[in-house]
Amino acid sequence: MKFVVTDTYEQLSDKAAALILAQVQNKPRSLFVLPTGATPLGLFRRLVEAGKAGHADFSAAVFAVLDEYAGIATSDRRSLCGWLRRELLDPLAISDDRILTFTPHGEPQVEAERMEHALAQNGGIDVAVLGLGPNGHLGFNEPGSAFDSGCRLVSLTPESIRSNAAYWGSEADVPRTGFTLGLGTLLAARDFVLMVSGAHKADILARTINGPASVDLPATIVHLHPNAIVLADRAARPSKAQL
Ligand code: GLP
Repeated sequence: MKFVVTDTYEQLSDKAAALILAQVQNKPRSLFVLPTGATPLGLFRRLVEAGKAGHADFSAAVFAVLDEYAGIATSDRRSLCGWLRRELLDPLAISDDRILTFTPHGEPQVEAERMEHALAQNGGIDVAVLGLGPNGHLGFNEPGSAFDSGCRLVSLTPESIRSNAAYWGSEADVPRTGFTLGLGTLLAARDFVLMVSGAHKADILARTINGPASVDLPATIVHLHPNAIVLADRAARPSKAQL
C-alpha cells in the first residue's frame, strides 16, 4: 500500500485527477468505478474541466457506479447513479451504454449477477476510486463484509443510515438496503485508490492504515490489494500518536 498525504484538499483532488487522466490517456477504453459522497467532488470538477477543455477524451471510457440504494425509483434524484450523472457523467456526455449501474428496484440476485457480468464483459475494473465511510465502509460494504464478496444487496448499518439522513430529510426516510460492488469485486481492480479528506476521517483512517486487514473494517483491504494507493489530505492525516 502506498500512503500519500497532500497539504490541501485541492492537491488531493489534483493527484486523484492526474491518476485518472493518465489512465484514460494510456487506455481510452478504461473501466472506472467511482464513488459518491463529498470527497470525490474536487476530482470530478477536474475531470469535467479536462474533458470540456479537450485535454482528456472520455469518449471510450466506461463507468461503473460503486453502490446504489435499493427499492427507489431510477428517476429518484437521491439515487446514487443520478447523483454521479449530475456531478460527472452528464457534463462529460457519457452515454448510457457506457454507464454500468444497478437498477434500484431490480430483483437482487439478477441485479448482482448482471453487474458482475457487465464488469467482466468490459474487461474488468481498471481503476476503482473509493471514499472512506465513517465506519470504514467501502461503497455499501459494511463492517463484516467478506473480503471475497461479490456484487450484492446489503442491509445498511444504523451508522450509515444516520450519515445519509441529511440527503433524505430524516433517518426514517433512508432506504434500509442497497446494492454494492463487493470487496472481492474491488480487490480484483487493477488499481485501487482510496480518497480521504477532513479531520473527521482521521481516526478511521488511522485504523485503516494501521491494519491489519480485518473484515471488521472493510477499508483495510488496502493491505490486501497489490496496487493500492491511499490519498489523504493533511486534515485527515492521523497524528503520530495514532500511527
Ligand atoms: C457513503 C457512500 C460511499 C462514500 C462514503 C463517504 O456512505 N455510500 O460510497 O464513499 O459515504 O462519503 P463522503 O465522501 O461524503 O465522506
